[in-house]
This record gives sequence, structure tokens and C-alpha cells, in this order.
Amino acid sequence: MKKILVVDFGSQYTQLIARRLRELSVYSEVCPWDEIPVLDNVEGFILSGGPESSNIEGNPTIDSLIFDSNKPILGICYGMQVLAHQEAGQIINEGKKEFGYAKINIKADTVLFKNMSDSSDVWMSHGDKVESLPDGYAITATSDNSPIAAYENTSKKYFGLQFHPEVTHTENGTAIIKNFLDICGIEQNWSSDDILQQIDAVVATEVKDEEVLLALSGGVDSTVLAAVLHRTLGNRLTCVMVDHGLLRKDEAHNVVTGLKEKIGLSVNLVNAQDIFLSKLEGVTDPEQKRKIIGNTFIEVFESESKKLNDIKWLAQGTIYPDVIESAGNSKTKAKVIKSHHNVGGLPERMQLKLLEPFRMLFKDEVRKIGKAIGLPNEIVERHPFPGPGLGIRIIGEVNKDRLDKLREADHIFLSELKKQNLYYSASQAYAFYLPVKSVGVVGDNRIYADVIGLRSVNTTDFMTAKATALPHEFVEHVSTRIVNEIDGISRVVYDITSKPPATIEWE
Ligand code: XMP
Repeated sequence: MKKILVVDFGSQYTQLIARRLRELSVYSEVCPWDEIPVLDNVEGFILSGGPESSNIEGNPTIDSLIFDSNKPILGICYGMQVLAHQEAGQIINEGKKEFGYAKINIKADTVLFKNMSDSSDVWMSHGDKVESLPDGYAITATSDNSPIAAYENTSKKYFGLQFHPEVTHTENGTAIIKNFLDICGIEQNWSSDDILQQIDAVVATEVKDEEVLLALSGGVDSTVLAAVLHRTLGNRLTCVMVDHGLLRKDEAHNVVTGLKEKIGLSVNLVNAQDIFLSKLEGVTDPEQKRKIIGNTFIEVFESESKKLNDIKWLAQGTIYPDVIESAGNSKTKAKVIKSHHNVGGLPERMQLKLLEPFRMLFKDEVRKIGKAIGLPNEIVERHPFPGPGLGIRIIGEVNKDRLDKLREADHIFLSELKKQNLYYSASQAYAFYLPVKSVGVVGDNRIYADVIGLRSVNTTDFMTAKATALPHEFVEHVSTRIVNEIDGISRVVYDITSKPPATIEWE
């Protein structure tokens, strides 16, 4: 299969490049900059951004195999700088960083910007910039802060972009990548059926006739994975769901009965609420809470699996944002944002082999696979729910009283969204608990009680997100219900912050 090789220099956005290529029906593989594979069938290279500076000794570099292949290269951000640097250009750091939107002015007659208007809004995120170009290179776009915002060497077919065409904020980003694919001369014929076939092939050759255990959370990723594996493994797949007491209202029951009814899948449900709650007592730090929840999950899951014989594999519905935000790919140097609890720990401890077929996919791609194998909308389109559950939606200490109030508030919010047909137009909505006392008046009495926050975001890849513009009357109605129906809540607030700079979850 002809492919584009995406060379990873540690950018938060590397998989977005691969994702854009998949959207353009082109097969691609991502590899770390220092582990370039045999270059069979590679028709072009995209060099990712990264947190390093090409002026620092020992910086990540472009492997000579890539230059020797004589194929087109597109360098993005750090990739652009290191390409210019290795070709004898000059990179500088003036101590000024450029984050967010910038306007670029495009020079006429450039192949990479074919059929585009003279100026475009693009997304920048860099400190270094290219100061002077090597021989044979020409500037193709400029911005106020980056006189060399893009360059090309048409005879070698080398291109550089200071901005990120892979993020949705860049106007014409996909068109630029498409133009690069035309330059590479690669056909656009790769589809999501191919992804499913590839997963089935990996499962068949790796797992063979061995038994697989799956940690089911009831979320989209692990549920779609369970259904995908159930097709080919049948009863060699055992699904275990741990109820850590941090689930939403009626969640465990709904997941177990729903899967049985919809796809005939049996789930072993383990009630471990008391263990989790006692371990979380008095803990307020978010990362510590995540670690406790993650470790306790491992202990409970391990003791449960000891009751099963012959298990050799652990399947997890880890998707790419989990990997990158935990910097779980140790080969690259992407910075840790949060330690997502479903990445790592469990397989080593239990000495199981790890099966993570969705590791390089985004949520909407997992959803497409779910639909392709016939899962109903209420499973495939449900909002994601984090592994540590309500534990990271209660700011500060987690206890039964707060959990009960939060579960009720969250239920009111989500059921109203569904009733008003707003649920599926949001990507993720939830209530969170703020242990901040505020004064209220109920009847003739003063109350001094905690706050419930509502968050709803729209996003395609969960890497960037915007708050949903919910109708004012709707939010007001939900707020009235929460304050009236839940004792000990004096106030409701709505979070309108985007990601970045905020994250989707509060902790
Ligand atoms: P953030 O808060 O990082 O969330 O913007 C991005 C997406 O990831 C989910 N999330 C998690 N999922 N384990 C998970 O399985 C975790 O520890 C975790 N933390 C955040 C979050 O709900 C959102 O969909």
C-alpha cells in the first residue's frame, strides 16, 4: 500500500496530521524521528512540529534516508525549521513566541497554495523561526511576525510551513495538505473499512486462539472495542466492568443491560464502590486522585481477573488523545498534560499482552467503526466519559454526599439536553461540583451551600474545543431544577472557556 510517512518530532498535533491524511483517503504511518523504518512504498514525508529548537546541540534531526529517497517533504513548524537548518538555512529565536491566529500573505503561483486567495488565517504555535533560506529555496508566504511563514524548493519538492495546516483553525489547512498529496502523486483510495480490516487482521495474527480480557467502562471507545472484538473472538472475549462508585446515575446497570439486549454481550459487573471511596478520603490533589483511582482500578481488576483462567491479553479502548495527553508514547517528547488512567500500568503488572487497536484513532473515527459494524446510535453517539469518572468532576475531596448531589445534577442536565434535542448537537456535556460556599435564599431562609457547574463543549477531536452556545432559557431552566431539587446547592454556573487554554474536564 502506497503511503505517506509522518515523522514525529514530538508535537501535540502529530496524529492530527495522520488524521487529515485519513480524511483525504490516504494511508499513512507515523514514526518517531529516530526510528525511520524501511522506506517501501513511501511517496512523501510530512515532518511534524515539536517542542525542541534546531539550534540546540543534540536536537532531533531528519534522517539521511529521507533525503536519499528523493521524495517530496513537507515540514511543519519545527519540521520546517529543522529542514531549513539541515539544508544550511538559519534559524533564530528572538525570545518572542507566536501562539494562535496569524494572517499570512501568499505569493502567487505556488504549488502548495494552489487555488487559494492571497491571504489566509492560520494557526501558529512557535518560538524559533527561519531567518534565512538555503540556496534554491524561495519564500512563499509571509506574516507580520514571520517574514518566512512558508517556503519551497520546487526542484527538490521540499516545502516548509511555519503554521499548522493540520489544525482545524487554519483556513485552507486541508487544501494545503491535499496539494502536497498531489505533489507526491499518491492516490486517495483508503477508507474506514480498511481500518476495520486492518484491526481484524492484527487481532487474527497477534491474538490467534488466545483469550482476551477487556476493561469495559461503558464509554464509546471501550464499548465499540468490545463489539469489534466480540465479532471475531466470540466467547474468547471476557468483559469486566468495575463500578468504582464514580459513575453517573444508573450507569452500570444501563451499560450491562444495554449491551446484553443490543448486541448479546455479557459483562461481569464488579461492585467496588467502598474500596474506592475509602482510598479517596481526604485527597484533594487532581493528579493524586487520578493515580489513586488508576491504581485501585488495577488492584480490583487484577483480583477479578485471577478468577479467570487462561487470559493472555488485555484489550483497552485507548484512543490517541489519551496517549498524547499522557505523553504515553515514550519515543517522542510531547509534554504531559494529564495522566489519563487507562494508559499503562495494568498489563505489565498482570503480565498480560496489551491489545489497543484504537491507539492511533480519534473518537469520531471510533464512532464510524461502531456505526460500520451496526451499533445503535445511543451507544455510538453517547458523550465520552473519563475513566476516573466523577472523581475528577468534584473539585477537591470526593465523598458520598458530593457524589450523590453531583449524580443528581448531572442527570438533570443530561436528561434535559436529551428532552430538548440538544444532546447530540453537543460533543460532551456534564455537571461538576465546586465545593465553594455561596449564599442563597430559599423560601424565607438563607442558605450557605456549594455550587454546581455545567459544561458543554463542541469539538471534533477533543484536542481543541469550544463551549456550546446553549440557549439561555435552557440553561436557566436546568439551573432552576438543580437548585430546587437538590438540597445543599445554592447556585449553578455555566463554564464558557475554550480548550485551549482550559481543558474539557476541570481536573
Ligand atoms: P481534557 O480534560 O484533557 O479531556 O481536555 C479530553 C477528553 O478526554 C477525557 N478525559 C479522560 N478520559 N481518562 C479517560 O479515559 C482520563 O483520565 C481522562 N481525562 C480526560 C475527557 O472527558 C475528554 O473527553
